[in-house]
Amino acid sequence: MSDSPYHDDHGNKDATITNKAGMGTMTPAHRKSGKTQYVGGGPFLIGDSMTGGYGKGPDILHDCTIAVDKGEIAVIVGPNGAGKSTAMKAVFGMLDVRSGSVRLDGEDITNLSPQDRVVKGMGFVPQTSNIFTSMTVEENLEMGAFIRTDDFSDTMEQVYDLFPILKEKRNQPAGELSGGQRQQVAVGRALMTKPKVLMLDEPTAGVSPIVMDELFDRIIEVARTGLPILMVEQNARQALAIADKGYVLVQGQNAYTGTGKELLADPEVRKSFLGG
Ligand SMILES: Nc1ncnc2c1ncn2[C@@H]1O[C@H](COP(=O)(O)OP(=O)(O)OP(=O)(O)O)[C@@H](O)[C@H]1O
Ligand SMILES: [Mg+2]
Repeated sequence: MSDSPYHDDHGNKDATITNKAGMGTMTPAHRKSGKTQYVGGGPFLIGDSMTGGYGKGPDILHDCTIAVDKGEIAVIVGPNGAGKSTAMKAVFGMLDVRSGSVRLDGEDITNLSPQDRVVKGMGFVPQTSNIFTSMTVEENLEMGAFIRTDDFSDTMEQVYDLFPILKEKRNQPAGELSGGQRQQVAVGRALMTKPKVLMLDEPTAGVSPIVMDELFDRIIEVARTGLPILMVEQNARQALAIADKGYVLVQGQNAYTGTGKELLADPEVRKSFLGG
């Protein structure tokens, strides 16, 4: 037997796992970014009349519109499977819209990749897998700043001011945190790019009512700094209570749209979506 572990007959000898030419041949999951066009007008961020689904699958969204204006919180509610997350992903460029458009600050960004939308100022916290559990809290925040080439220590301090518990736990693996604290990491991570608009998909999922209230308070605080927030919420009543604009989605379509107050007062919306 050889002393060196590298000279005996162990290990993979099948070279087909490598690519000798040294050039990737895979097609990227997301098509390359296309051009944008200034069109002006309209809300600050809008997914306008979006129709589309996943890959070559059937349409999930049918002429669906969601939007948020400067200084506002817009909330999307609706039953499970209604397409709320799909609509958010469409706005972020994670699925092809077959018709309709996405515009940010007057610019048509329908053909941009998600990465380029981040560069344009979109911050997105997806519903699931929104943190790196094996990395520390601080490493998660650093990852959030990946597109920045400037000094981001001030932004990190701002995130720690907003979520003091994260500063306390900054050297702990994020996976060891409670549900509510993980959501704070996810929101903090998104804030690290200094976005112009923040998109949150169910930021209070799986947390206790007390933690939910606290997260809502923090979200309102973020909105008051002037950052528009477009968010999906399953706690419809509480979310509509803080919403400037509300959307009820059903089967990929806009069922009701109005101010948060209007929707909370609407007998049909109350009966069907708010438990009476
Ligand atoms: N990655 C995917 N590939 C194919 N179909 C998907 C995918 N994600 C979701 N869907 C389908 O799209 C539809 C809408 O799902 P979506 O997750 O957008 O609903 P939702 O309103 O966010 O629901 P929930 O309240 O449970 O989060 C469902 O029929 C779902 O099965
Ligand atoms: Mg969802």
